[in-house]
Amino acid sequence: MSIDLSVTFTGIKFDNPFLLSSAPPTESESNITRAFESGWGGVVTKTIGLHPVVNVAGPKTKFLRYYPESGSLSMNKGRAGVLQSSWNWELISDKTLDWWVPRIGRIKKAFPDKVLIASIMAGSGSDKELDHWRTLAKACQAEGADGLELNLSGPHMDRDDMGANIGKDQKLCSFVTQVVKEVANVPVWAKLTPATSDIVMEAGAVFTGHGDAVVSSNTWPSLPVIDPETLEFEMNVDGLVSSGGLGGPSILPLSMAKMSQMTRAFPEKSFSGIGGISDFSQALNYFLLGCGTVQVCTAAMLDHAVGPTVIKGLIQGMRDFLEKSASRGWTKLEDFRGLRRERIVGHSQIRRPADADYQGGYEAEGYAQPVKA
Ligand SMILES: Cc1cc2nc3c(=O)[nH]c(=O)nc-3n(C[C@H](O)[C@H](O)[C@H](O)COP(=O)(O)O)c2cc1C
Repeated sequence: MSIDLSVTFTGIKFDNPFLLSSAPPTESESNITRAFESGWGGVVTKTIGLHPVVNVAGPKTKFLRYYPESGSLSMNKGRAGVLQSSWNWELISDKTLDWWVPRIGRIKKAFPDKVLIASIMAGSGSDKELDHWRTLAKACQAEGADGLELNLSGPHMDRDDMGANIGKDQKLCSFVTQVVKEVANVPVWAKLTPATSDIVMEAGAVFTGHGDAVVSSNTWPSLPVIDPETLEFEMNVDGLVSSGGLGGPSILPLSMAKMSQMTRAFPEKSFSGIGGISDFSQALNYFLLGCGTVQVCTAAMLDHAVGPTVIKGLIQGMRDFLEKSASRGWTKLEDFRGLRRERIVGHSQIRRPADADYQGGYEAEGYAQPVKA
């Protein structure tokens, strides 16, 4: 039996299920070209919009690391620490639609068999803004984009009618998806914000609007830590900071929880998992919860900007996994996708211990050991 890494997701054929997510690794033609040459199955462009975009006067992203010797967490003490997360203060692409359009066309001509998804964003507060969604969708698909990803999750929106503020409003999730679906001739995915109390409601709204897939997670609302010496936030402009987005290893378990809620509620629907993936063992979590593709940002940013080593590891990891699983008869993702989806149950359904084993709920040792003199 031969191993097959290819997947068909929302009707689109990918040579492997690993995509670069919409972020700095996918902000330019040269990056996307290098990504495809490195082996990524698909790329989601940095989000494209029609409103003017000016970023903050300072770094747009930094990496928080843990330093075991001192026990400290910092963004500013060099690469010796262990990566904990990335912090995203970056807006969508500051390049215009006119800049993107010819590039989408050129990339698709150069890589007809690779999948290019255009991430798009507009507002929802007026007919003009809704028309922006239509304009963006039509322009990107006319140049050959294989699909559209609606950014309903940008975390730093002062505007009430955009980004995560759409993703927090079920009616708008449904309405905006429907507006794009009416003009789209390619699959439409919606990237939701994790910053809601019950993401199942927003996912349901996307499907009511006839969306083809839900993508999660974008970065989580968060702040940079405060430097104990200067008492300044480690990322700030003139001493000021606003809420930004957390990505990287620390969000893997958080994003899994959101994803599992959605895949259990809609087991027949399509989901693309994001959050804290740098190797196959992490991607496997999302596949076992039911995702048909996964996307990567932070790990790629730290690996030559587009993740050439990361994608090689993901592909090799999936090959090794399928080779090891030959005895189970598995040759492709569909054979194990969703296998652990039903293992998440209500707390009361978890078995209780027999009295004889009971340690008051703690492990027998470790937790309460006395400090040695
Ligand atoms: C600096 C930075 C910029 C980002 N820009 C976008 C964006 O324009 N559109 C979008 O949908 N997500 C954006 N993201 C979110 C990522 O695509 C991804 O959802 C998130 O980082 C979690 O994945 P990770 O844990 O692999 O980093 C950005 C993330 C970072 C760190």
